[in-house]
Amino acid sequence: MGLSKTIWTTPAEYIRTLQPEAPVLFFSPSVLQATARRFIDGFPGMVTYAVKSNPEEVVVENLAAAGVRGFDVASPFEMRMIRRLVPDAALHYNNPVRAVSEIRTAVELGVKSYSVDSESELAKLIAHVPSEGCEISVRFKLPVAGAAYNFGAKFGATVELATVLLARAAAAGFVPSITFHPGTQCTDPSAWETYISTAAQIAADAGVTISRLNVGGGFPNHRLNAVLPDLEAIFDLIDRTASEAFGANRPQLVCEPGRGLCGDAFTLAARVKAVRDGQHVFLNDGIYGALAEIPLIGVIDRVEVMTPAGALREDERTDRIIFGPTCDSVDRLPGELPLSVSVEEGDFVLFEGMGAYSTVTNTRFNGFGELSMATVLSLKL
Ligand SMILES: Cc1ncc(COP(=O)(O)O)c(C=O)c1O
Repeated sequence: MGLSKTIWTTPAEYIRTLQPEAPVLFFSPSVLQATARRFIDGFPGMVTYAVKSNPEEVVVENLAAAGVRGFDVASPFEMRMIRRLVPDAALHYNNPVRAVSEIRTAVELGVKSYSVDSESELAKLIAHVPSEGCEISVRFKLPVAGAAYNFGAKFGATVELATVLLARAAAAGFVPSITFHPGTQCTDPSAWETYISTAAQIAADAGVTISRLNVGGGFPNHRLNAVLPDLEAIFDLIDRTASEAFGANRPQLVCEPGRGLCGDAFTLAARVKAVRDGQHVFLNDGIYGALAEIPLIGVIDRVEVMTPAGALREDERTDRIIFGPTCDSVDRLPGELPLSVSVEEGDFVLFEGMGAYSTVTNTRFNGFGELSMATVLSLKL
C-alpha cells in the first residue's frame, strides 16, 4: 500500500486538496505513539504488538519509537520484517500451528518464545527447538463471553489438555508459561478475570510454577460512540486478579494487543459513488476492502460525512443501507448506518477507529481496493 510522503494537517485538508477517487486511510503517528505509551505505562507487564493487525512498516517503526520492544509474529514474513526494522526486539511466535520449515526459520531468527495448543505441535517443537532459555507457552481456551467474536473455535487447548502440555513442556526443559486470547474487541474485562484464575489452576494442577502469563490481545479500540473502552480498568483488573490467583507464584505478565494499539490511529475515507434513487449509499470501499472485518465483528458507528470541500455535514441523520463497490451482493455493511440526510454523490464517508485488520485484509476483488495511506498531524474531523 502506498504511503504519501507529505504530512497533512487533517483529513479535511487532504480531501479538499486531492479529491481522492480511491479509499484513503489517514494515519496519525501521534495517536499511535500515545496509545502505545498508555499501554506501556498502564499494563502491569511487558507490552508486545500483534503484527498481524496492521503490519505497515510505519506502524511498527512508530511503536518501536514509543518503546514497544516485543512483537507477536504469526509467520516467517512477519519475523523477518521485525528483525529488519527492530533488530533487538523479542519475537513471540504465537501462531500455535507451524510447518517444520517455519519452526526452523524461527530458530534461525532467534525466536525464544512459542505458543502451543496440541500434543502433535508440542512434539514438533520439542524435536526442532533447542530448549535452553526457550519459552513454551501453553494456550488454552474457555467458553467465556465478552468479545466481539470468539477465538476459541480454532485455537486453544481444553483446560485438561493444557495441564498435560504444560507439565510436558516443563519436563522437556523449556521455560513453562501459559497464554490465552479472550477474543477480539473484548469490552467486558471479566473475561480476563476468568481466564487468569483458570491459568493459575492449570499451573497448580500441572505442578508447574510458570514463568510468564500472556494475557493475549483482545483489548478494545473505540468503535462505537457510546462505548469508550476503559483500558486502565482492564489493566487494573488483570493486575489484581494475577496477584489473587497466583499469590507468591505470580508470573510476569505479557500482553499482545493488535487492535487496542493500532485501531484508533487510523480513519478511513471512502467516497460516495452514488446514492441510488436517493436511498442506498454506494461507497468505493466495502467488505472486500478496508471494511473487511465489519461483518464479523459489527459496525463502527463513529462515522461522519464530509463534503468535497472538507466540511462535515452536521445536519440530521437518517439510517442508510451501505453497499461496497463490487458486484457481489454480500458486499454490504451489516444493518444500516446513520448518515447525514443530505449525503450526496462525491461526498466522503469517514470511519474512525479503522487501523486494525483493514490495510492488511484489503483485496483487489473486482479491480477495486486501490487503498492508500496518508499521514496527518491530527485525525480531528
Ligand atoms: C495470538 C494472537 N495474539 C494477539 C492477537 C491480536 O488480537 P487483537 O487484535 O484482538 O488484540 C491475535 C489476533 O488474531 C492473535 O491471534
